[in-house]
Amino acid sequence: MKTLSFHPTDPNEGACIPSADMGKSATTKVLLRQPRSEDGVVVHQLVKNCPPLDENSIYCNLLQTSHFAGTSIVAEIDKQLVGFASGYLVPERPDTLFIWQVAVTQEGRGQGLAWHMIQGILRRPNCIHVRNLETTITPVNTASEALFRSVARRFGSTFYATVMFERERHFQSLHDSKWLLRIGLGNNPVPRLNSTSSQQG
Ligand SMILES: CC(C)(COP(=O)(O)OP(=O)(O)OC[C@H]1O[C@@H](n2cnc3c(N)ncnc32)[C@H](O)[C@@H]1OP(=O)(O)O)[C@@H](O)C(=O)NCCC(=O)NCCS
Repeated sequence: MKTLSFHPTDPNEGACIPSADMGKSATTKVLLRQPRSEDGVVVHQLVKNCPPLDENSIYCNLLQTSHFAGTSIVAEIDKQLVGFASGYLVPERPDTLFIWQVAVTQEGRGQGLAWHMIQGILRRPNCIHVRNLETTITPVNTASEALFRSVARRFGSTFYATVMFERERHFQSLHDSKWLLRIGLGNNPVPRLNSTSSQQG
């Protein structure tokens, strides 16, 4: 498997070249950056190709890549979009970053891309006051749960889950219940990798 090295266009994106990777030669450069509205359609395609994610309208993706660009991120390899994470600061609770969706292409998976994108958002100056990370998952999505369990573990945090949108009450049985996951980041809004996580990238 190729080794990825992460390069932000902005130092606040949280560049991270895992120490275990530095000596290896076959390194693929991943660019992490804030999305632009011009990314909207490509983001739409990426999400569409990442079941079981809900596909949003292109218009929604355009808003994510413009109004919510400050709390969203894209990952590129050779100018091809390989990852996208959307998020926003919860209205009335600006200390909470809600991660809306995380999508990584099939080929890009299992190499720390999702983790680096989440970290990249949290390192931005506009997230300096963030103390909690929230997201929703459907329990059948084991990858999603594993990702956020891993994020919680990396922060040394508890992993707290409650039903947020119920299958019958909110979705009229059109969708499985969505569970709200809450991960406390403590007083350390900028994640600092410990020795174990830096190896994992
Ligand atoms: C879920 C998804 C975003 C993960 O992306 P990724 O770049 O492969 O994730 P990472 O490599 O950063 O992995 C982070 C952690 O999640 C775990 N993980 C990721 N995918 C997993 C899977 N399919 N099964 C079990 N664990 C998984 C990794 O093992 C890692 O944990 P670790 O630190 O204990 O090793 C990707 O598989 C995807 O796009 N899936 C389809 C869309 C989706 O379901 N998104 C869910 C989030 S809204």
